[in-house]
Amino acid sequence: MKYLSIPGTHWKASNIIMGCMRIASLSNEELEHLIRSNMELGINFFDHADIYGKGECERHFGQAVNLRSSLREQMIIQTKCGIRGGYFDFSKEHIINSVDQSLARLQTDYIDVLLLHRPDTLMDPEEVAEAFTQLHQSGKVRAFGVSNQNSLQVELLQRYCPFKLSFNQLQFGLGHTPLVDAGLTANMTIDQSTHRTGEFLEYARLHQITIQAWSPFQYGYFEGLIFQNHDRYQKLNEVIDELAAQYGVSNTAIATAWITRHPANIQVIAGSTKPSRMKEVVSGSDLPLTRQEWYRLYTSAGNMLP
Ligand SMILES: NC(=O)c1ccc[n+]([C@@H]2O[C@H](COP(=O)([O-])OP(=O)(O)OC[C@H]3O[C@@H](n4cnc5c(N)ncnc54)[C@H](OP(=O)(O)O)[C@@H]3O)[C@@H](O)[C@H]2O)c1
Repeated sequence: MKYLSIPGTHWKASNIIMGCMRIASLSNEELEHLIRSNMELGINFFDHADIYGKGECERHFGQAVNLRSSLREQMIIQTKCGIRGGYFDFSKEHIINSVDQSLARLQTDYIDVLLLHRPDTLMDPEEVAEAFTQLHQSGKVRAFGVSNQNSLQVELLQRYCPFKLSFNQLQFGLGHTPLVDAGLTANMTIDQSTHRTGEFLEYARLHQITIQAWSPFQYGYFEGLIFQNHDRYQKLNEVIDELAAQYGVSNTAIATAWITRHPANIQVIAGSTKPSRMKEVVSGSDLPLTRQEWYRLYTSAGNMLP
């Protein structure tokens, strides 16, 4: 397992994160087994949100493991807030209430990382900074970040926020590559050259912000898995399978390695509910794809290089 130093914290964070969006359907025993086997694989980072399963995912997690035991210190627990029914809300009142509810559901005294889930264009950055300060001073939240934001949105909030924004969670994987597309086709008159937060990759490296790749194996917006669409991703699956055989790992490991190979030190948030699949993901944590292999995977997913 590869561990990353997270600027603004003293943590050594695993570059594979357990995504907790799909855990609501597991039994208590299955979930406890999944958490413990993930920790045995070296995963120490857990991603939640107040809205996952309408709060059920956090509640279930807090019931499956005792977060008031010594186990808690071995875990970096992250949650998010800011998405409400039909609107986004970065008001101080909502941020603080949401954290209090997450703490109660998780049955823990502190959250390691709080992310703002999707950008609220009505945000008052000074109000967010006040909320973060109150949460930090009361010991309820240790570090902060955002999700689905572009570089100027991060810069705006950072100007007012007294804490480093350490993370930005964005969709990224072989089926969703806007983070790199525009940079690879800069200044061309093709659709691929259009910025869709693509500049954030360089911004994150310049400002030492850790990107977390969500839905790493999906394409589009929850349209399906790259491994299961053999019409659209026939060539990609052929190359993935070839490299999987060459390295003696699974297709999931190769798709993971395509993300972890990037020198921006991106974390991969895997949403599997199966210990065996998470083991496959972890085998891609530090798998050194060559430059040639990385670009071959990128182009076989349907992207062009000039
Ligand atoms: N910030 C945001 O806006 C945002 C949005 C969405 C998600 N997230 C975070 O990202 C995490 C991951 O999202 P996700 O669950 O959509 O990501 P994902 O890991 O790409 O997808 C997980 C699904 O893929 C299946 N899978 C993986 N490899 C497979 C293979 N080789 N063959 C067949 N099925 C395979 C898993 O099935 P099995 O369970 O059978 O392994 C699981 O159903 C979430 O838990 C959440 O924490 C954040």
